[in-house]
Amino acid sequence: MNQQTYGVAFTGSGSAKLETVLTNEQMTRVVDTSDEWITTRTGIRQRHIANVTDSIRSLGGEAARQAIASAGLEPADIDLIILATSTPDDLFGSACQIQHEIGAARAVAFDITAACSGFVFSLVTAAQFIRTGAYQNIVVVGADLLSRLTDWSDRRTCVLFGDGAGAIVMQRCETGDRLLSFEMHSDGSKNDCLNAAYKHESAPLVDDITIQNGQFTPVDMNGREVYRFAVKRVPEVLEKSLFHAGISTDDVDWLILHQANQRILDAAAQRLGIPAERVVSNMANHGNTDAASIPIALDEWVRTGKIKAGDTLALSGFGAGLSWGAAILKWGQ
Ligand code: COA
Repeated sequence: MNQQTYGVAFTGSGSAKLETVLTNEQMTRVVDTSDEWITTRTGIRQRHIANVTDSIRSLGGEAARQAIASAGLEPADIDLIILATSTPDDLFGSACQIQHEIGAARAVAFDITAACSGFVFSLVTAAQFIRTGAYQNIVVVGADLLSRLTDWSDRRTCVLFGDGAGAIVMQRCETGDRLLSFEMHSDGSKNDCLNAAYKHESAPLVDDITIQNGQFTPVDMNGREVYRFAVKRVPEVLEKSLFHAGISTDDVDWLILHQANQRILDAAAQRLGIPAERVVSNMANHGNTDAASIPIALDEWVRTGKIKAGDTLALSGFGAGLSWGAAILKWGQ
């Protein structure tokens, strides 16, 4: 049996540009809220909203194309596309649509649904295919249009979310493994704290056979429980991951958490002892974009030259499931 394993490198990033902005002031005309309440409780000042012609396919495709180009590759070089999303264009999966959109004809493509942990879980999944030698060039896309799943009359949730798409390229690396460690966790017993559940009534079909007749409901959340969960689990999972990577918080150049709430970022960074200037935050501009939030933030920091090749990044995604995870990696070839 071939025991050889291969290293992973993180070689490109991209993100889609969404033109339409929804400000906190505009939110006050949608629900009974205020700019002051939203900014002080969450740090969010505006969010981007997909236009009616946008889709996971178009926005995810744009992010993927950019990431592939920045890695110096062509779509035809891609072996695998993993799409992290909870808001696909097609419940059977949208990764294949992105494959077609970008012309990555050789790539196999599939979706992973793990809400706000989806990008980290997908990155870890991609790494397994590279480490085993199965694939060399993989695109991981995080794309969500939470505006599709939002109850726009519920002020407890609708002010938090936005739409977006980001992507990275991961490649086989002959000179070491840049994924230093990872952790993934799930706790389904707390699923009711945050979900967009399928709700149905039974409808008679024929004879004594009944079917489920229903639809997916908008995001429902117990904000306080989710907040408590996040400020406990995120530092914990990062501490474990750093330990397994054999490094300390002093070695982390950038902490990139799922952009859920500035207070969660601040609490996690404080517990880890990571100063604010090394914490990536773009939530004032984007709100919570679910699986897209980490790759969008990463791409913005790469494109503005803040994240450089060789930098050590500590990523953590957390949210519905409940689920949470972390990845410690070195950026670049
Ligand atoms: N505007 C104005 N008031 C609002 C409001 C809004 N958008 N949303 C809720 N309120 C009100 C509530 O009705 C409540 O009023 P009451 O005391 O008169 O009943 C008050 O504000 C406090 O509500 P509460 O839900 O206790 O607020 P909170 O301090 O817990 O903050 C969150 C709410 C959502 C900001 C906070 O719980 C949080 O960040 N949770 C984590 C959410 C998250 O990140 N989810 C995604 C994870 S992936």
